[in-house]
Amino acid sequence: MSSTTDAAAGRAQIAARTLRTDRWWLPPLANFVGLAAWVIYATVRVFMQSDYWVADYGYLTPFYSPCFSTGCVPEASHFGQFLPDVWFIPYAALTLPFLLLFRLTCYYYRKAYYRAFWLSPPACAVAEPHRKYSGETRFPLILQNAHRYFFYLAALITLINAYDAVIAFVKPDGSFGLGLGNIILVANVVLLFIYTASCHSCRSGVGGRINNFSKHPMRYKMWTFVTKLNTRHMQYAWATLASLAITDFYIMAVSAGWISDLRIVG
Ligand code: FES
Repeated sequence: MSSTTDAAAGRAQIAARTLRTDRWWLPPLANFVGLAAWVIYATVRVFMQSDYWVADYGYLTPFYSPCFSTGCVPEASHFGQFLPDVWFIPYAALTLPFLLLFRLTCYYYRKAYYRAFWLSPPACAVAEPHRKYSGETRFPLILQNAHRYFFYLAALITLINAYDAVIAFVKPDGSFGLGLGNIILVANVVLLFIYTASCHSCRSGVGGRINNFSKHPMRYKMWTFVTKLNTRHMQYAWATLASLAITDFYIMAVSAGWISDLRIVG
């Protein structure tokens, strides 16, 4: 059978687009609004090239980490500066594309944006407007298979975010400091680790290609743990979008002087 088929082929021949009477359009609409709002916010922020660093407490927003541009505040560049400082290159341009590709190829986000943006299909038992359907068997969607490689890169970048969160406990004068910003940075990193660990590629990586789990008790334990996380992958996907935006907004607000960091120690 051809992988490209008419949308109507193999489907019930009914005149109505759908017989569903519930509000099936609500989830794709909510996803459309939520994802579009996040992408607009993140795009504006990464091109602002300001208010990403709080010098007094060492807070660096994840949208600018690692800060590789020669335009970065030197103290915020924990891993060197070698990108030119021009307006169209985000300060973290070496890692942001991989994070974007990690999310774009994520199994959950694929479902969300296929439904919300391409209406392909918009919901279960609702016909899509497209005449042809080739799934993910052709270019460019066949590239979604590269998700597993972006998973490894994203895990590495999350380690860098963790490093940023840990060193932010040491103030520029070398003393220990704890503020609301530290708590937000750590909470964001914990959520990022949970989201990354709940990835389908992670589950396949720790438990795949094993014929007999009893011979690999350690991997079975890891696979069981990741499987539990995996059942809530959608929730973690949204939680991390929220935590990334909240972390960035808080650091921008403190850096710009709109608010003061709530200090607990130091
Ligand atoms: Fe969503 Fe891998 S499946 S991050």
